[in-house]
Amino acid sequence: MSRKLFTVGPVNVEEEVLAAMTKPMITHRSKEYKALHGGIMEKMKKALDTDQDILLVAGSASVFLEGAIRNGVGRKSLGMTNGSFGLRSIEIARLNGKEVAEVAVPWGKALKPEHLEGRVSADTEMVHWVSNESSTGVLNDSSALADEVRAQNPDALVMIDAVTSAFATDLKLRELEPDALIFGTQKALALPPGLAMVVVSDALIEKSRKVPDRGFYTDLQKLKKQNDEDYALTTPPVSLLYALDLQLDRILKEGMPARYRRHREMAQLVERWSEEKLHGIFPEEGHRSDTIGVLNRGDLDFGAFHSALKSRGYEISNGYGEVKESTFRIGHMGDLRPTDIKMILSVMDEILEEM
Ligand SMILES: Cc1ncc(COP(=O)(O)O)c(C=O)c1O
Repeated sequence: MSRKLFTVGPVNVEEEVLAAMTKPMITHRSKEYKALHGGIMEKMKKALDTDQDILLVAGSASVFLEGAIRNGVGRKSLGMTNGSFGLRSIEIARLNGKEVAEVAVPWGKALKPEHLEGRVSADTEMVHWVSNESSTGVLNDSSALADEVRAQNPDALVMIDAVTSAFATDLKLRELEPDALIFGTQKALALPPGLAMVVVSDALIEKSRKVPDRGFYTDLQKLKKQNDEDYALTTPPVSLLYALDLQLDRILKEGMPARYRRHREMAQLVERWSEEKLHGIFPEEGHRSDTIGVLNRGDLDFGAFHSALKSRGYEISNGYGEVKESTFRIGHMGDLRPTDIKMILSVMDEILEEM
């Protein structure tokens, strides 16, 4: 039985977008591919309001979390964490042999510039954190964090995991100027999984020249050389690029300010409902996600609640990491609209009454 997904990803994909994937295959060294790739880059830069390069490879977003670290860090990085995915980048860096200092903030609280006080040493090559922490529903202010990093060490690069905020929250890239900002297709872009993307700075590309052992698949030197000619380095998921191309047209037609407002509106609906019907929302006020509501469970039997929801054709997401048993998550991103959220919330009302 197919279910409508209110999950944290993969998320619902509209039929028209899925259908774009059935177009005839082309080879990735053809003129047709070059036009597709170039067009996507133009539209993506317009949507994200940036002139920075955007690189892509087949894979999930983690490919570029690893790739950015392998290209930008010779020896030492600083990882900020307030949840599972902050820890993930720290783990990735360590597994790649980097020495990682850690700033750990309690789960549910936002990362703030004061947490960095005195921590960005002269030998810190990169500072990394998550924009929208998917395990806790905290939206961190990446521009404020990047300003603090650069005030302490202008040479330190910033890598931002924007997997669940890109295309849903205005990250103000012209102000932020990320050295690496990473996302994939299966979250707010509302596409099937399979493509990783990174917005890169010239500083990161320059730094990667000097970093040894950065591997092949995400070598930014090789990727940029191909991308400058509107080609991929290795075989890209062409069908997914067809869908991305169409999705970007749809996104630009909606307009980014409207898209960002729609996501905020959906978050507010979930937040209000959680306060009225359950035990409120987990993350601290003023720093709440536009894409993922992390709700306090209280004494709700989540297993029974979710089974009832699934039997009616809807799926949400379990809690994650440290707060797995005390929270659950409602994804409200991509092509979902406030009317969809109102609908699932009314179904949840019915289930709560029955329980
Ligand atoms: C914030 C965040 N970072 C990283 C990831 C990992 O992304 P992927 O599975 O696309 O590699 C996820 C996945 O949910 C995420 O939510």
